[in-house]
Amino acid sequence: MKIKTAHRPLIEKTIKRLDSSFFYYDLDGLKEHLEKLSSIMDSDLKLWYACKANPLSAILKIFRNLGFGVDVASQGELDQALSSGINPGEILTTGPSKSRKYLRSLLENEVDVIVLESHNQAYWLSEIAGELGRRPKVLLRVQLDWEDGVSVLGGNSITPFGTDAENWLKLDQQKIENIEIMGLHVFQWGNILEVSELKRIWWKITEECQILAKKLAIELKILDLGGGLGIPYSSDQKEIDFNEINSNLKELKKEFKLEKIWMELGRYAVGPFGHYMTQVIDRKTVRGKELLILDGGINHLARPALTGQAFPCQMLRQSDSELRPFTVSGPLCTALDVLGEFELPSDINEGDWLCFHQCGAYGFTEAMPFFLCHNLPAEVIIYNGDLMTPRTIKASSDWLV
Ligand SMILES: Cc1ncc(COP(=O)(O)O)c(C=O)c1O
Repeated sequence: MKIKTAHRPLIEKTIKRLDSSFFYYDLDGLKEHLEKLSSIMDSDLKLWYACKANPLSAILKIFRNLGFGVDVASQGELDQALSSGINPGEILTTGPSKSRKYLRSLLENEVDVIVLESHNQAYWLSEIAGELGRRPKVLLRVQLDWEDGVSVLGGNSITPFGTDAENWLKLDQQKIENIEIMGLHVFQWGNILEVSELKRIWWKITEECQILAKKLAIELKILDLGGGLGIPYSSDQKEIDFNEINSNLKELKKEFKLEKIWMELGRYAVGPFGHYMTQVIDRKTVRGKELLILDGGINHLARPALTGQAFPCQMLRQSDSELRPFTVSGPLCTALDVLGEFELPSDINEGDWLCFHQCGAYGFTEAMPFFLCHNLPAEVIIYNGDLMTPRTIKASSDWLV
């Protein structure tokens, strides 16, 4: 998603004012996108927002106002959702690290839907629910075997997410009398752009979950397929059409006689509406390669180092110069700090600004901001055409002691 022409003057004003790297989110674009998803969505499909993708309160409020639930995966995300005005009845919680203390906090905060990822989580929750006189609704997270393949969510690797079907069958039913199992949850494949591939994954999940539900003697009222809808990070990739997603999920529901399908989306929901802006600090040639060194790198945007995939990049200034390949590095003293190899105008130089697109998901909160004590990036939003800065630049003096 490119910067809208109408936003350019606002961005240029922000650059002058902040003079340091920042994220900017187009919340009008986000709202439009979510309204479109809601208008397409079948009534038996429930979408939650996996707020690990971007927990900014202004973003959470947009999801809330449009009737999406919010998936939290930590006490911090729970606090942020509650303090952003999300109704606890609209909060779902996933994540492999749920202590007794966190489970108690969920119930005390009136959260009622919990995805259980281990036997211990089930036993602890039932015990706490008994003490508090509650009966939470739960889904059991199942980790399936696949043909080979890796993904940020593990793919076929053994990960901490949930446990296998055989193991769920060993759950001691007498120790879970205060919880109500409403269904199953499976999510092992992320950032998929091919609808046919999603379909193959969803059908296998549903077949195996139906077998497991039968063995567990539970009704599969809800099947949660997690997230996994991809967004294009390079020009040869195409956006997913949500109409196709919806019609496949309708077909899945009908074929397997499911009551409700849930998904909690992160990347596909917010990714295209965030941009990361940073300045070129230096340009040089090293052993025959052209390099640009930026104000911000993986300290603000870790994903390229974690996945090897770059965010799409353009120079903000308009230029007619021919394009040339550059290796673009951040400011950290590690060779890992590379944001990618890009074709950029040959007249790019110190003082120019680069804009990285598709940074609305897994940007600011996924980074490693403290290493080398550079500024933390600001977060700027454009909403109803207005420019606002909910979080400004923080210098190292704001956190170092
Ligand atoms: C349990 C769970 N659901 C949903 C998501 C969101 O996934 P995506 O960004 O692929 O939509 C994640 C991301 O890690 C997750 O852990």
